[in-house]
Amino acid sequence: MILPDSVLGVLGGGQLGRMFTIAARSMGYRVWVLDPDPHSPAGSMADRHIQAGYRDPAALAEMGAGCAAVTTEFENVPAETLEFLEARLPVRPGSAAVAIARDRIREKTFIREQGLATAPFFAIRQRDDLEQACAQLSMPALLKTAQLGYDGKGQVPVTSLAEAQQGFAQLQEAPCVLEQRVELALELSVILARSASGETALFPLGENVHVGGILDTTFVPARVPSRLAEQATGMAQVLADAMDYCGVLAVELFLTRDGELLINEMAPRPHNSGHYTVDACLTSQFEQQVRTLCGLPPGATTLLSPVVMVNILGDLWEPVSPPWEQLLSHPQAKLHLYGKRHARPGRKMGHYNCLAEDLDTAIATAEQIRSALQGHGQQVDQTR
Ligand SMILES: Nc1ncnc2c1ncn2[C@@H]1O[C@H](COP(=O)(O)OP(=O)(O)O)[C@@H](O)[C@H]1O
Ligand SMILES: [Mg+2]
Repeated sequence: MILPDSVLGVLGGGQLGRMFTIAARSMGYRVWVLDPDPHSPAGSMADRHIQAGYRDPAALAEMGAGCAAVTTEFENVPAETLEFLEARLPVRPGSAAVAIARDRIREKTFIREQGLATAPFFAIRQRDDLEQACAQLSMPALLKTAQLGYDGKGQVPVTSLAEAQQGFAQLQEAPCVLEQRVELALELSVILARSASGETALFPLGENVHVGGILDTTFVPARVPSRLAEQATGMAQVLADAMDYCGVLAVELFLTRDGELLINEMAPRPHNSGHYTVDACLTSQFEQQVRTLCGLPPGATTLLSPVVMVNILGDLWEPVSPPWEQLLSHPQAKLHLYGKRHARPGRKMGHYNCLAEDLDTAIATAEQIRSALQGHGQQVDQTR
């Protein structure tokens, strides 16, 4: 077991790294963050910010020599970096799991190999692959780059072979999946923590609403029958066991209009849809990341209160920063800002959690705060 006062390393210094850093430091660990950005949200919270690239040999040697264990906040850390560190100290999750989650072709193939359902898809490695894929899929479909996509980026909606060909060119002919667009009843996510010895703790199922490909709101508990919730968490458990996963794993699912559960994708790390755990669960997803990294058993995931999580995007800064007092004056709303210097439309700047005795009250509070924060921008607009 790695105990408090040890140094934990994190690759990537965005908001996920920041919340990991806060959890680890409050438990008495020291944290080193590797991130090239001088204003990295996690760097400013860490004991040490090593400001260097993810392939920088001197920085990696330092992390390897100075940390007791290393984790990541994003799946696009170069494979060689994880392998270099893995040869020297515990890296959790390991490079093999990260390699599956970082590539949609490998990921969806792996999910199918476990006997779990995904939306119908075809791997597109070259232009010639499109013809057969389009012949076998029913349109409309989505062409998604196999790697580096997030928040709906790297995706093109298509309705015909011609559009798919155009889309493939638009995506620089990078390897892709062409995936049937399914009729969604709901989107769901499961967050779990699995220790090196295989002990697993599942958080309650979250119900997610995306707007423009970006997560907007998470409702917990999800408003689905318990049978369905158990089925969804069971599917996530199968994936974690199949990878002999160690760390926090997020699994996104679709519930189709036909009542079928499909796995959309997974993330080998804490997830935006798990931010509710920070205020509403006995153990947060970030504490679980610390625990699983340190060889400790996962903590209890008991839900303390129904909760609604709402993302705060940079759009709200137009033209001036939002009226935080509207949110902070509410006794059961919890604000989390990531300390990013520049707001841009679509950029995740923070989130808030609304807790209440029942989900409907939490929803009402969340919506009231949403309009108060948005109304501000509109009001100023009108006086221009
Ligand atoms: N096959 C699909 N059918 C219907 N909606 C989809 C499909 N794939 C993606 N979406 C929508 O787009 C969102 C983002 O897609 P996703 O594959 O999760 O990419 P990202 O890596 O950007 O999160 C999903 O949460 C969902 O709302
Ligand atoms: Mg997604």
